[in-house]
Amino acid sequence: MKIGICSDHAGYDYKTQLITYLQSKGIEMKDFGTHSTESMDYPDVAHPLAEAVEKGDVDLGIAMCGTGNGMAMTLNKHQGIRAGLAWDVEIGKLVKQHNNANVLVMPARFIPFDMVCRITDAWLGTEFEGGRHQKRIDKIPVK
Ligand code: RB5
Repeated sequence: MKIGICSDHAGYDYKTQLITYLQSKGIEMKDFGTHSTESMDYPDVAHPLAEAVEKGDVDLGIAMCGTGNGMAMTLNKHQGIRAGLAWDVEIGKLVKQHNNANVLVMPARFIPFDMVCRITDAWLGTEFEGGRHQKRIDKIPVK
């Protein structure tokens, strides 16, 4: 399992800590930046992460910015990406179970770091349900 991860300056500290947390569980991480708390533009890291997920260079992605919205908006411009914003554990589960999110997005300025870990664990530990949800996600891409 290889996970790509990115953040802007607002999510930088949590990204650094989450990489350590996930590596300690034996997960291989690929860091797409940013690499400091200096102000930057989230699309500059979100697009490369999205492309890596689409190409299969990484299995899944995780992205964080202040609210999560800028990352989600950018990632979801890519036809092969289903980026889901989660701010609690139940949504972290549902975004996999119902939406099969291949990128998990979290709002770094609005949740504590232990919640970031719990949401990530919930998302990784949940299976996509398929069935009626498969039919729905098949209708998401713009033809
Ligand atoms: C940065 O100030 C902030 O706008 C950004 O982290 C994010 O919340 C945008 O959606």
